Amino acid sequence: MLNQRKSIVGLDIGSSCIKAVELTRDKYDHVITGYAQMDVSNEAARQDAIAELMRVARFRSKRVATAVSGKNVVFRYIGMPEISDDKLLQAARLDADKYIPFDVDEVELDAQKLSVSTDAAGKLEMKVLLVAAKKTIVADHARMLTELGLQPALVGVDGFALGNAWELGDLVHPGINEPGRTVALIDVGATKTSINVLRDNISCFAREVGMGGQDLTNAIARRTGLEPMQAEQLKRNPGDQLAIVQEACAQALDDLGNEIKLSFDFFENQFDGEVQEVRLTGGTALLPFLEETFERVFEKRTKTWNPVEGLKVRADNVDVERLNQLAPQLAVAVGLAAAS
Ligand SMILES: Nc1ncnc2c1ncn2[C@@H]1O[C@H](COP(=O)(O)OP(=O)(O)OP(=O)(O)O)[C@@H](O)[C@H]1O
Ligand SMILES: [Mg+2]
Repeated sequence: MLNQRKSIVGLDIGSSCIKAVELTRDKYDHVITGYAQMDVSNEAARQDAIAELMRVARFRSKRVATAVSGKNVVFRYIGMPEISDDKLLQAARLDADKYIPFDVDEVELDAQKLSVSTDAAGKLEMKVLLVAAKKTIVADHARMLTELGLQPALVGVDGFALGNAWELGDLVHPGINEPGRTVALIDVGATKTSINVLRDNISCFAREVGMGGQDLTNAIARRTGLEPMQAEQLKRNPGDQLAIVQEACAQALDDLGNEIKLSFDFFENQFDGEVQEVRLTGGTALLPFLEETFERVFEKRTKTWNPVEGLKVRADNVDVERLNQLAPQLAVAVGLAAAS
């Protein structure tokens, strides 16, 4: 019997779709013991939809790991003199008001050491990533979940969840990550794209870009004269109209690809290393031509990534076919569950 306390639900409350994946640790493995997703774009309907989703999914645990995102969450890269890990957060907090656009007392702050190098005077200097999220947003989020009878165990950010999902894959396939390997994980959702660059499995760079699948749907609607709902259907099931859909999306995808590429340039300048390969997730990664379009823009090897590959699945409580079909869309949910 699997131990109930070792189960946790990664709940990814996206702007267009709610995804929930339950991971349970058994002796040797992480097992997917539950899965559900539901398209919900109306914010007012979100809480009821989560309740419904949790009911139909028949998860064994009420512990949930979620993420906050959007303009109330900021990422900043700062340089600091070398300091031990246990003092890092305290030191970053003292300095944070120089870097973040909110009052330090009003934010939940997290700090992660990225690299250590020697400055011109021979002193050790660290690069640190600061993540600040407004306390009110985190508290509202936790309250909404508590009202549903759930137990919020962790509130993270999408970009880091991607990194955790990647690390989980590394546990499942030991040895696939050769030392020094630099991978960019890109999650293209409906309204935003999350970027996380990992070197040696350590997150070195994270950023969000405010573009996604909704821009493609809008472009298809403009090109074809269809209503947004119909354009959305055509995007998902283009059938013999694939060429029209591809042409309609071309400009928006180029714009998004170029914006992501700027982040690669920034990383490569700051960290003196090259992004070697790119992995795509998010609902928009289900587009059949995303890989080839982005590979052309990035000029880097680019592949869709299945974050559940290699994980065991409890088939008695999971629609395995649907899970595999939509797997790229689940990277954030899997990573949130994996982090706790
Ligand atoms: N088969 C498909 N082909 C192309 N696009 C798809 C397909 N299925 C879903 N999408 C698109 O994926 C997007 C939803 O993906 P996802 O669930 O990752 O976003 P989200 O998490 O709700 O959004 P965000 O992260 O921006 O808040 C929508 O724009 C939707 O149109
Ligand atoms: Mg999302």
